[in-house]
Amino acid sequence: MSGNLIDVAVVLNGKKVTASVAPDQSLLAFVRDHGCKSVKCACETTNCGLCTVWLDGRAVLSCAVPMVRANGHEVTTLEGLQAESADFARCMAEEGAEQCGFCSPGLIMNVLAMEREIRDRSAAQGIEPAMPTEDDMNAYLAGNLCRCTGYTSQRRAIRRYMESRFGAASDDAPVRAGEGE
Ligand code: FES
Ligand code: FES
Repeated sequence: MSGNLIDVAVVLNGKKVTASVAPDQSLLAFVRDHGCKSVKCACETTNCGLCTVWLDGRAVLSCAVPMVRANGHEVTTLEGLQAESADFARCMAEEGAEQCGFCSPGLIMNVLAMEREIRDRSAAQGIEPAMPTEDDMNAYLAGNLCRCTGYTSQRRAIRRYMESRFGAASDDAPVRAGEGE
């Protein structure tokens, strides 16, 4: 520690990173300062979801996490999930779910986190993971704001991706190409 700074150490995308930071520095500022520019700075008031990263494998809003809380933990950004995110990125392209793209990294982090949570919860209960309902997906992703797509194409992409992972729910209507935009 030096002056008013505190020493922190995190594992960022698999690599140990140490730094001296101001006590009130946000995890958002920290990851961007360390090259993770996929993490977007927008509202900074926990309202848009664009700054979503994983802290120990769980999605968090990095604008709301001070570095004192992240210290000693594992932080993952989209830069660390290139292989894992490829299939969902393809679903987004196939469904036209990306326009300016500014919200996409936060959305991808949340969709992959939702998939992980479904698998973890099912494993804890000793049951097969199942396709989330439309309501489940809407509730989980409600914090991801997008000013371009109107959400319909994003929802198609999420549903296509989840079906590729968990299979279609039997009572779900089929995904229609070109439904909304
Ligand atoms: S910048 Fe963190 S929620 Fe908007
Ligand atoms: S695609 Fe532009 S903000 Fe979502």
